[in-house]
Amino acid sequence: MQDETDTKIIKIDRDGNDPEALRLCADTIRRGGLVCFPTETVYGLGANAFDAAAVARIFEAKGRPGDNPLIVHIDGYAMLPEVSRCDERQRDRLLRLGEACWPGPVTMIVPKKETVPESVTCGLPTVGIRMPAHPVARKLIGAAGVPIAAPSANLSGRPSPSRAAHVIQDLMGRVDIILDGGDCEVGVESTVLDISGEEPLILRPGAVTLRDVRRILGTGSAADWHAGIREGETPRSPGMKYKHYAPKARVLLYDGEPGAVREAIRAEAEKRLAAGERIGVLTTDGNLSYYKGLPDVLSLGARTDAAAQAANLFRLLRRFDELGTETVLAETVPQEGVGDAVMNRLFRAAGGCLIRV
Ligand code: TXA
Ligand code: MG
Repeated sequence: MQDETDTKIIKIDRDGNDPEALRLCADTIRRGGLVCFPTETVYGLGANAFDAAAVARIFEAKGRPGDNPLIVHIDGYAMLPEVSRCDERQRDRLLRLGEACWPGPVTMIVPKKETVPESVTCGLPTVGIRMPAHPVARKLIGAAGVPIAAPSANLSGRPSPSRAAHVIQDLMGRVDIILDGGDCEVGVESTVLDISGEEPLILRPGAVTLRDVRRILGTGSAADWHAGIREGETPRSPGMKYKHYAPKARVLLYDGEPGAVREAIRAEAEKRLAAGERIGVLTTDGNLSYYKGLPDVLSLGARTDAAAQAANLFRLLRRFDELGTETVLAETVPQEGVGDAVMNRLFRAAGGCLIRV
């Protein structure tokens, strides 16, 4: 598919009250097509998880590396045995976590069933499974009657899409349908939790935190994403080794005592402006007045409101692209709750570098 007119954009209300639109999307999925749809985290680029050829089209449409596996989305527990085969402890953990967090923003890694094509899991013996909370996503999976394999609906390496306009920017002409169900509530991708091993391990932070996992399962740890991936090391989650979430601009991420961070950013901004560079600043509400006079100062929300920061992050990274920003000077945010996920995405947008002041 090359022509942009080949992609249909269909608006749907948040509750998915449009049986006809859902039927068209479900037929497209069943016929091996690609449908972008809203979830509560970010938009997904979906295909029938059992159709290897359709799954291959996902990788092609995104320009995704062939060794980065996809998440399989289900609409209820009935689909679980079709895609996974858990032992007793894995099943117990999955059900306890599911009871507390599903439908919702957590993906669980469990042993895969043979019926899931290798192209979904990129040859891994495990599969990531998620039951999304967004009514449109649930109804779409239900109408299709098959689990839907879906990565985030962005071009590989670009910030994930938290609204349909972002999907349109990246994937027009590359997919069959873009189902526009409005803005995503959470704004950052799901927590990826590996429950296939001894100890539950968070591979990617999201709205479901380590504290939640420990409260529910009594045990758990989190991969240390601050350390980055060292040369020659095999990451547990293939996705961790790719530079991600990056706007076209270079992102410089400043960490330290808030007053010192503000001063360092202001000084750097003025230096770069004097040299004729297009800069932008990514901050939080309380600091907006401090950067007065600088161009393109965007706020993630209140410094204490991690949920707002998560909801705004990818939209603002994309906004800098629209503004033609060459360098984004960004403040770190507190790593409380979903703030840990916000920092993880910022850190990766900055190429794994922190400037400590
Ligand atoms: O919120 C989300 O998770 C969104 C929505 C659409 O559901 N999806 C999403 O998919 O973010 P994607 O493909 O952009 O990220 C999936 C992540 C990747 O980092 C991938 O490496 C990891 O999950 N992953 C998938 N299957 C895995 C497996 N079997 N073992 C380890 N990591 C896995
Ligand atoms: Mg992604």
